[in-house]
Amino acid sequence: MSRVKIKEALAQEAGSVITVKGWVRAFRSNRFIALNDGSTINNIQIVIDADQLDETTLKGISTGASLAVTGNLVESQGAGQKVEINATEVIVLGNADPEEVQKTILQPKKHSLELLREQAHLRFRTNLFGAIFRIRHAMTFAIHNYFNEKGFYNLHTPIITGSDAEGAGEMFRVTNFDLENIPLTEDGKIDVEQDFFGKETNLTVSGQLEAELGAMALGQVYTFGPTFRAENSNTSRHLAEFWMIEPEVAFADLKDDMELSEDFMKYVIQYALDNCKDDLDFLLQRETNEDKSKPQAERNELNLIERLEFVVSNSFERITYTEAIDILQRSKPFKKKKFKFPVEWGVDLASEHERFLVEKHFKKPVIIFDYPKEIKAFYMRNNDDGKTVAAMDVLFPGIGEIIGGSQREERLDVLKEKIKDFNIEEEHIWWYLDTRKFGTAPHAGFGLGFERLMMFVTGMANIKDVIPFPRTPKNAEF
Ligand code: 4AD
Ligand code: MG
Repeated sequence: MSRVKIKEALAQEAGSVITVKGWVRAFRSNRFIALNDGSTINNIQIVIDADQLDETTLKGISTGASLAVTGNLVESQGAGQKVEINATEVIVLGNADPEEVQKTILQPKKHSLELLREQAHLRFRTNLFGAIFRIRHAMTFAIHNYFNEKGFYNLHTPIITGSDAEGAGEMFRVTNFDLENIPLTEDGKIDVEQDFFGKETNLTVSGQLEAELGAMALGQVYTFGPTFRAENSNTSRHLAEFWMIEPEVAFADLKDDMELSEDFMKYVIQYALDNCKDDLDFLLQRETNEDKSKPQAERNELNLIERLEFVVSNSFERITYTEAIDILQRSKPFKKKKFKFPVEWGVDLASEHERFLVEKHFKKPVIIFDYPKEIKAFYMRNNDDGKTVAAMDVLFPGIGEIIGGSQREERLDVLKEKIKDFNIEEEHIWWYLDTRKFGTAPHAGFGLGFERLMMFVTGMANIKDVIPFPRTPKNAEF
């Protein structure tokens, strides 16, 4: 008999004979099995008659084991579910030794997030991580849907690259040299010409530069790929490997870019509200329980669902960097010297400043634009004031920067000046400069950190808990 997904079985009327397959979440009273197959956060209850099963099968039914169960779908006698299965046949597909299970997070009780991370290969089996990764899928789908509906083309930009798009130098080197025996030139430098690609290469920090090339012909493109940064910052919002979505639009300016970012964020968050109800309800419940054990001041003012609805139904505040500095300098924490980092024109905003603006001052998402040119990347378009560039950051409550974007410098002479100021060699990005020679046009784009979006949508506080296998300094297990 073909397998019915548990999600579908739970939605069916009683009366048919079906087969389900899944993993045992709990087995109690030698009679009730809670079975889950990942199709939904909800388990189906299986009722067995222990006397009808042979001994080996009965012994095999234990937490973590995988089963195939055939039986009658009947109306449930107990509370908590509409239907359950009266098993007529149970096949143990894979055993899980109870003694071994005791040592793992499969044991059904509350485990710390740290322990769950150490057993990331098993944490998919928990309600929490099942919910998170189903939502992650839904968000991926929503993003592709959004851009497809808007006529964008998905572009696969290279993972291995010879350029440093952000100019931050935080890259992972790619080489197939024997590290014990690296070929050197006569003056003792690494002989990159003998390396696999015949030049220095790294893992990409952003697909933007290549996306710009695509946009200059296809009009509207977006990338959705892994990006890598060797930032040695062990924070709850940084990963060494994360996924980024980067739309790039020809004939668009910074204002269009900000509008696109707001419309896009609202669409994907609404998609979660519309399509991930069971999983969001679980996360909401979890957050509410956690909040109960926290002091009043640390509790969430709005709950998870309220926060998502709030973003969808309110417009994002737009302020210039100069206005942001002004607000910060007039703020209470500044006057009382509560900020750790300096607040003055020309200095990058620290996360404490961003969070003050978003969480205390405006209490909603904020887009800050027109940043000092010295603190932003070389490709951003110079404004006429001679001091700022047409850059924008979208800041979210609880997250801080979630999107970074800009209008791009499309004027060849200005761009050449800028790359000189940033000490970039022209011959390294001759192809990028070419697009400014052949039919250059105003264009703009941005990058959304996918895991930061996931943190916002799930309410998880640590970025390591929204990607299956996080890569961070000193950690590349699995
Ligand atoms: O602001 P960033 O560095 O912008 C760019 O890379 C541009 N090329 C984007 C563009 O205009 N096409 O990064 C974009 C976003 C950030 O706002 C943040 O959400 C996320 O990527 N991000 C990280 N997420 C997790 N871990 C890290 N180490 C991240 N660094 C950036
Ligand atoms: Mg940024």
